[in-house]
Amino acid sequence: MSDDALSNLLHEERRFPPPADLAANANVTAETYAEADADFEGFWAKQAERISWGTKPTQVLDWSNPPFAKWFADGTLNITYNCLDRHVEAGNGDRVAYHFEGEPGDTRAITYAELLAEVSKAANALTELGVKSGDRVAIYMPMILETVVAMLACARIGAVHTVVFGGFSADALADRILDCGVEVVITADGGNRRGAPSALKPAVDQALERCPDVHTVLVVKRTGQETAMADGRDKWWDDVVGQASDQHTPENFPAEHPLYVMYTSGSTGKPKGILHTVGGYLVGVTYTTWATFDLKDDDVYWTAADIGWVTGHSYIVYGPLANGATSVMYEGTPDTPHQGRWWEIIQKYKVSILYCAPTAIRTFMKWGAEIPAKYDLSSLRILGSVGEPINPEAFVWYRTHIGLDQTPVVDTWWQTETGMHMISPMPGVSETKPGAAMRAIPGVVVDVVNDEGHPVENGQGGYLVVSKPWPAMLRTLWGDDQRYVDTYWSRFKGLYFAGDGAKKDDDGDIWLLGRVDDVMNVSGHRMSTTEIESALVSHPRVAEAAVVGASDPTTGQAIVAFVILRSDDVDADEGADIVKTLRNHVRTEIGPIASPRQIMVVEELPKTRSGKIMRRLLRDIAENRELGDVTTLQDSSVMNLIKDNLATSSGED
Ligand code: WTA
Repeated sequence: MSDDALSNLLHEERRFPPPADLAANANVTAETYAEADADFEGFWAKQAERISWGTKPTQVLDWSNPPFAKWFADGTLNITYNCLDRHVEAGNGDRVAYHFEGEPGDTRAITYAELLAEVSKAANALTELGVKSGDRVAIYMPMILETVVAMLACARIGAVHTVVFGGFSADALADRILDCGVEVVITADGGNRRGAPSALKPAVDQALERCPDVHTVLVVKRTGQETAMADGRDKWWDDVVGQASDQHTPENFPAEHPLYVMYTSGSTGKPKGILHTVGGYLVGVTYTTWATFDLKDDDVYWTAADIGWVTGHSYIVYGPLANGATSVMYEGTPDTPHQGRWWEIIQKYKVSILYCAPTAIRTFMKWGAEIPAKYDLSSLRILGSVGEPINPEAFVWYRTHIGLDQTPVVDTWWQTETGMHMISPMPGVSETKPGAAMRAIPGVVVDVVNDEGHPVENGQGGYLVVSKPWPAMLRTLWGDDQRYVDTYWSRFKGLYFAGDGAKKDDDGDIWLLGRVDDVMNVSGHRMSTTEIESALVSHPRVAEAAVVGASDPTTGQAIVAFVILRSDDVDADEGADIVKTLRNHVRTEIGPIASPRQIMVVEELPKTRSGKIMRRLLRDIAENRELGDVTTLQDSSVMNLIKDNLATSSGED
């Protein structure tokens, strides 16, 4: 058995220093790190000055009752005053808040003044419908501007929103409505996806059969498709919000007033309702949007994620708006009507900051570099990645083909629970390494520890922990304080346990190695799925790889890999030898211990709707088990594709 909690296997030598002009004008400098190290609370008190308070807080952190933190507890604020009114009052009402791009090609630019008017109307309408401070409102919407308006309207009156991703089923929606005690739902007739209207309202109707407490459903008309409306319960958004006054005075709430609950799936059991509160969360996302993306006044910022995920909450809505940024918001899929849609949007709006997930990047790699090459991407100056470890090869592809070999790529590690970026390069300071999230951002303290909770040495792997509270941290799990304590604060005393494996390289920089649940144990060596996946993706023929540990009579677990090949680099002569080639490639890159027992070439991989690979299902396949729960699977036909593929190949070479 190896001593390390996780063996540190993969080596990556490429380095990219920050561009000189960016470094010279960067928001965050080496001094920022020094400042935060010297005075933790003082640093956060200073970041709190980025936002406007009704009553300025005199206290920074109250950690007298761990793990229940209070930040800026005696301060009061209205979060939407910070996102809207103050920019209008400062004379920036005409600045565009969002360039909205509908999938069918319809567009709308909404200014800060217009957004304030819309949010004021919706806040008045919700109040009229009886929604009060502390009440919960579910939002089940496509990627349209009204989704932002709905969230902000709730926040403005102190109501708690719970946004449920529009791809979730009626059952998932009902579970969340019930757990959260929701009485009002905001939805739409549908949204546009893959060139066709995709209905949402029928799922709400079905969900509400189980939710008798919901008395009102507001329905935005987006697609115009035929929509059943229940008498008395359902109301068109335009009829209700359209009539309301566009004047609304924001009320200030205590910093620890609840802002939203976002459900995230646990490895077992029912989804966890992550609770964020207004003050600390706003400070955290305002600061990180400014710092991580080096945000400047003339940037055009695009987070290409769904608003239904935490990335959308923090970096489409609250972070950019609090900074008065101009964002792009796109409704649809990246291949509608053609595979260059994202690059066309970047060219059109001169996007300067792009933030997306490695799963998207690997899809673009699969489609081929000649597609982005047709567009002018020279406006880009910062690229971000989030949601999964980014394989070194995907990082380099992103930097080369999207960043034209000059933009820094910031690999941001964080979670629904953390609310804000935690580990990331700072684009004007950090030399980046492809595949590494590098260091905690200034103001955040993390470590990698062994089974006993002791920090590992450089060059070793272990468990990622956060050592000090941070302002945007979750406050609890909705209605379940004990599960909050058990899940995050019980494994290591006084440390937040993130559930991720990580390693420190020889310089002390941090590499994420995937969820601890996914770690494989092969002949007593604990190995990370991420490293072997990255080794596979570093082969020019591979676009995407998923690795799982399947039980094996001799080695305990054996490595099974599923790979998707790239379409832009086909060598027809390779044929079945590709499996042998790839196995040898992993041996060379990492070593014989990491060599997969089986490699299967597949067309697609099973992913959750937020783009994370569902290794559990692949493990079932690798172990020839009946498939487990597939309700969160993005596309159920994928599993048939993989199974068919297995039927026609032995898997062994
Ligand atoms: C993973 C998304 C490696 C990790 C913001 C984490 C990452 C989980 C990264 C949270 C990254 C997210 N490198 N892994 N840059 N970013 N993860 O709650 O396993 O959807 O615990 O939040 O995604 O996912 P969540």
